Amino acid sequence: MTTTTTTAITHIANLVTNDPSLGDGTPLGLIRDAAVVIDGDRVVWTGESSKAPATDNAVDAGGRAVVPGFVDSHSHLVFAGDRTAEFNARMSGRPYSAGGIRTTVAATRAASDDELSANVARYLDEALRQGTTTFETKSGYGLTVEDEARALRIAARHTDEVTFLGAHIVSPDYADDPAGYVDLVTGPMLDACAPHARWIDVFCERGAFDEDQARTILTAGLARGLHPRVHANQLGHGPGVRLAVELDAASADHCTHLDDADLDALGQGSTVATLLPGAEFSTRAAWPDARRILGAGATVALSTDCNPGSSFTSSMPFCIALAVRDMGMTPDEAVWSATAGGAAALRRTDIGRITPGARADLVLLDAPSHVHLAYRPGVPLVRAVWRAGERTV
Ligand code: NIG
Ligand code: FE
Repeated sequence: MTTTTTTAITHIANLVTNDPSLGDGTPLGLIRDAAVVIDGDRVVWTGESSKAPATDNAVDAGGRAVVPGFVDSHSHLVFAGDRTAEFNARMSGRPYSAGGIRTTVAATRAASDDELSANVARYLDEALRQGTTTFETKSGYGLTVEDEARALRIAARHTDEVTFLGAHIVSPDYADDPAGYVDLVTGPMLDACAPHARWIDVFCERGAFDEDQARTILTAGLARGLHPRVHANQLGHGPGVRLAVELDAASADHCTHLDDADLDALGQGSTVATLLPGAEFSTRAAWPDARRILGAGATVALSTDCNPGSSFTSSMPFCIALAVRDMGMTPDEAVWSATAGGAAALRRTDIGRITPGARADLVLLDAPSHVHLAYRPGVPLVRAVWRAGERTV
């Protein structure tokens, strides 16, 4: 018989459960003066601290807040090198262009498996120390059959949420033959990559892949059991968001330039709108209007987009603060989107909430409430992290 150890975290001033049937009845399901009981890797009980059942261990939260571990549903961590010079040029007035991706492709192809894996581990550790307990990551800096498959194999050592992004840009090797590159992505590259990934993504944007190419690639992925997600409407208005909804993609990511038809589509479909404020911050681009997107009835996720070009941050608290300050979200909405919203974008129900049966992913904040994540930007508020019931920070 296996026995597990139970741990109670008690005297939590504000517990974000993300279960509206609990606590204050808002989407955050806030319970005041709360406790959480963990058994093995699961949450088994939440409620008022005074009613907590007896457990093997107890941790006194001391009047601090607890939120679900952050779910970072969009990152590009399998890469080598950085793009400091490009960032410097941008901060001197040069615009962001997806062409910089080629710099990272060259550095990534030249790196060893060990270097790439160590890089992923390093950014993952950074993210964990800032409260991220689940993250998705993509290929997209290899752009050959071997380099894309290698990126996915390396990603899969670190997370189950792996996305094939062979269609990041047309490979420089196919500069004169974009149709040939689409054939490669949907043929031999997909054959080599499908076994290592859960998702397929396309950068549907002027200068990357147009609507027909993106539909061809995503449909080919679907036929191989990879579910779509789409880089959509980042640099300008385009067909990406509507295509994402048409294909029932799990998420349309960026959503910076949306018209009313895009908003209607997001409001009616089940595709999550994933906002990536680190990208607007680091490219000095216009902010997406989260109020409009929420007003349309869409589900919104927040994510870092961590990559060396457009958004070199692994910090979900930073993204929460930006979303509140610059995208019009309330602190409650931003915290929900960084946890339950990210889980929805990954079509997961076992994470992003603190309720019985959920994976025990919890962040103890050095603050009395989750609002401080936006109210105290740049301050390291993550005091402790449990991932699948294990204290990791
Ligand atoms: O999500 N937009 C496409 N891909 C990344 C940027 C990649 C890069 O600049 O290296 C993004 O912003
Ligand atoms: Fe991205």
